[in-house]
Amino acid sequence: MAQKKYIILGTVVILYGIYIAWLDYDFEPIEFNFKKPPSFTGKLAPNNALTGAEILLKGEVHAPEALVKEGNVIYTGTGDGKYLKIVDGKIEKVVGHGSGSCFGLRRLNKTHFVGADMYVGLLLINYDLGTVEDLVPVGEDFNGLTIKNANDFDIIDQNVIIFTESSHRWSVSQFGYMFVEHIFNGRVLKYDIAKNKLELILDGLYFPNGFLLHPDGESFLVGEFGASRITRFYLSGPNKGKKEFFAENLPGYSDNIRLSSHGTIYVAMAAVRDPDQQSYMEKSASYPQVRKVLLQVVPEIFLKLWTLLQIGVTRGLVLEYDYNGTLLRSLQDPTGGVNHFSHVEDDGTHLYLGSYINDFIAKVSIKKIEEELNVKF
Ligand SMILES: *[C@@H]1O[C@H](CO)[C@@H](O)[C@H](O)[C@H]1NC(C)=O
Ligand SMILES: *[C@@H]1O[C@H](CO)[C@@H](O)[C@H](O)[C@H]1NC(C)=O
Repeated sequence: MAQKKYIILGTVVILYGIYIAWLDYDFEPIEFNFKKPPSFTGKLAPNNALTGAEILLKGEVHAPEALVKEGNVIYTGTGDGKYLKIVDGKIEKVVGHGSGSCFGLRRLNKTHFVGADMYVGLLLINYDLGTVEDLVPVGEDFNGLTIKNANDFDIIDQNVIIFTESSHRWSVSQFGYMFVEHIFNGRVLKYDIAKNKLELILDGLYFPNGFLLHPDGESFLVGEFGASRITRFYLSGPNKGKKEFFAENLPGYSDNIRLSSHGTIYVAMAAVRDPDQQSYMEKSASYPQVRKVLLQVVPEIFLKLWTLLQIGVTRGLVLEYDYNGTLLRSLQDPTGGVNHFSHVEDDGTHLYLGSYINDFIAKVSIKKIEEELNVKF
């Protein structure tokens, strides 16, 4: 009986080996050395700025990852590919075919929004007419350029969209490979709607996600989730072509980057790094040969599970920076009552917190934050 089990197991292993060989992926992991995560002291000392946040639409939204707040309306794109218009706290309109997963959302002009969908690509949305159209579909050829995914973006002159493609090698459904191979193959691209033209701006990024055009009008910020840092790149001006780190060795993994209502920058933290116990994912980043073996031997589904287990979320965390990358303060919920943030939307009186996993939108009054942190914005 036991013998039979081993024969079956052996056969499965051999067949799997043949399957992997047949796939013939040329895994080329490279070395990346994470620094020891910062401890939760100083500006990162625990505070209750976000504790007890109001929970909106519990159970009615699935992963509202990106938000736009205008007056009494919240626009969101969700993890199940829907675009919701929420008026006075009630869902008034649901647009979209419900495929894909929206990671980025901004208003383009008076009538339209743009959504960045990790599976589908860049989309043009009209909430009032209920239409969703393709702008830059995943896989479509633009003079030799194609994209595998679209994560987040910003807009110039209601016409030019600059966006992140998190991996140019793997589609998001293969995120096990994405994170274990861990290579610098994310990009920033520019799409001109009027000219229907796609252009490469910057290559070699480490799972770029959140994106913001810097208020200086010359540079942009891009979160490199896979390297726990935010990179600044200059598109014009005296520093044109220069790349520098805006913030490094973050206390977690960053998601969307947005302006606050008081001249600063909010970075939503998707996950928090444990200062006492560096994750195996980070440790293994220093050993590309080990990861190469894992990639060749372990089925992708297990690499996915492993990756998810490695990304810890022990508290709610938002980082606030000045325009030069100095950390001003952190907004936290150390109880973990609200966490897993993907987006901070500031309408001047409240912060609205989007999430890539929660089934609600969290809302916190700025007054409460000022009181908790003893600051005045
Ligand atoms: C907004 O932009 C879209 C896409 O370019 C365009 O079709 C639409 O007409 C524009 N709306 C306005 C009011 O300019
Ligand atoms: C940021 O840096 C610029 C250029 O070095 C400087 O002029 C500006 O005052 C700085 N701003 C802040 C908020 O530190």
